[in-house]
Amino acid sequence: AQEAPTPQWRPALHFSPAEHWVNDPNGPFLLDGTYHLFYQYNPAGMVWGPMSWGHATSTDLLHWQEQDIALPATPQEDIFSGTVVYDSQNRSGLGSASAPPLLAFHTSVFHGNPAHPEDTQAQSLSYSLDRGAHWQAYDHNPILTLQPDSRQFRDPSIVWYPQGQCWIMTTVVADAQLVKLYRSTDLLHWSFLSDFQPSGYRKPGMLWEMPLLIPLALDGNPHDTRWAMIVSVNPWSIAGGSGVQYFVGRFDGTRFTPDTLPPEGSDPSAYHWLDHGADQYAAIRFANTGSGAPLLIGWMSNWDYADTLPTSPWRGQMTLPVQLALKTVDGQPVLIQTPTATYEDLVHRQGVSAFSDRQLGPGQSWHAPLGGDVLDVHLTLRRGDAPRAGIVVRQTPDGRTGTVISYDFTSGNLTLDRSHSGQVGFSPRFSLAHVAHLSAPGGVVSLHLVVDRNSVELFANGGVLRMTDLVFPPAGSNGVSLFSDGGHTQFTGLSISAPAR
Ligand code: FRU
Repeated sequence: AQEAPTPQWRPALHFSPAEHWVNDPNGPFLLDGTYHLFYQYNPAGMVWGPMSWGHATSTDLLHWQEQDIALPATPQEDIFSGTVVYDSQNRSGLGSASAPPLLAFHTSVFHGNPAHPEDTQAQSLSYSLDRGAHWQAYDHNPILTLQPDSRQFRDPSIVWYPQGQCWIMTTVVADAQLVKLYRSTDLLHWSFLSDFQPSGYRKPGMLWEMPLLIPLALDGNPHDTRWAMIVSVNPWSIAGGSGVQYFVGRFDGTRFTPDTLPPEGSDPSAYHWLDHGADQYAAIRFANTGSGAPLLIGWMSNWDYADTLPTSPWRGQMTLPVQLALKTVDGQPVLIQTPTATYEDLVHRQGVSAFSDRQLGPGQSWHAPLGGDVLDVHLTLRRGDAPRAGIVVRQTPDGRTGTVISYDFTSGNLTLDRSHSGQVGFSPRFSLAHVAHLSAPGGVVSLHLVVDRNSVELFANGGVLRMTDLVFPPAGSNGVSLFSDGGHTQFTGLSISAPAR
């Protein structure tokens, strides 16, 4: 039976489909000032099912317009995740110099197809000659198969490698926790380069999905390029269930080699995570955005409970897109993630409400006289004699319900606690609190929160650490308050803005 609609949880600044189930973002790209986003979509159901590529467009990465389905599933083929490449020089020959083609690389899952063993996965290609409006399948699909046939060979992602004047494709053999690298100069013929699989890392039952290889200048130095290998893992994430981890290393045109690896048998906390919250998976990069910072978008959910989320008539949504950089933090290269310039523009256009600095004493709290569907909050916590301080968002007027973000100055732990955030009981696997270690140089931590109707995204210390969590607060949960536990804390640089949609 169809559940009652939940408009109070309809994201205002995050993509969600009008109706039905969505998972991974697929093949996002920029062309002629329009951002295109595709996504794993079941247009006939509220849970995962036969997968098509849905399609949406935006000019600011914040307001999305749903388009017709781009790549529909058929009874013989499901269309799994992948990447779009803008073949600007028509190296594939599928378009022309005046009308360069867009190429959508995706995984085909074959059913009842005499040419392929049942349920095998292989990489295929569809292309568009009208800038993404219509797509047609390449005549010689699939373009890449694995021998012996595999049911776990998927998720092609492609990056241009200037030093080799070629494209590099990464795919996974998901249940082997293995990334496979290929190269091509025409985007049609792919030759095998190498496998990436950290030794001593294999975990029974864990899947590796959506591998991404991204070059980044370390500390902005163009002469020191490192490569981030970003992999979605399910389960074994730092916050439980599925999540996104990354390795930083070198790529020599053939092989990716991480700079360092935790010792064998380490637990998840020894690895790098793109997000320390529970609700980010399958992050992918926008193609064709030029020479600026790479842009990334993820699915805001967790395979542990994705099919039980209490929204209707849609289920699933995307994270806010972010821009990526690589910086040395505590002696290690770390991915830095910050909201896009288009987001910051929107917030600034709507005006920022600054509040004066304040000191809160033991047990004191302060309520911000501002609330809206979207809240942008900047805040710096300066250590006093309180062991712990923080902020509550999406709070009900009676103060009983809210999502609590707190920093413990003694342990150095940052916690996003959604145990009293509203509806939490729809799945026993909906994890309630997420904790990450964050250093506080000089006793100071800075928080940037992007709060939508049903989510909290936290960027700490300038984007060194990110936490994304879904929340399902009661209607009218517009309160924000600060608190200081057991002592004094100085709150500085507080600005809250409620950009209208
Ligand atoms: C990741 C994933 C991919 C696959 C797709 C299927 O969430 O499992 O590996 O291509 O979703 O919908």
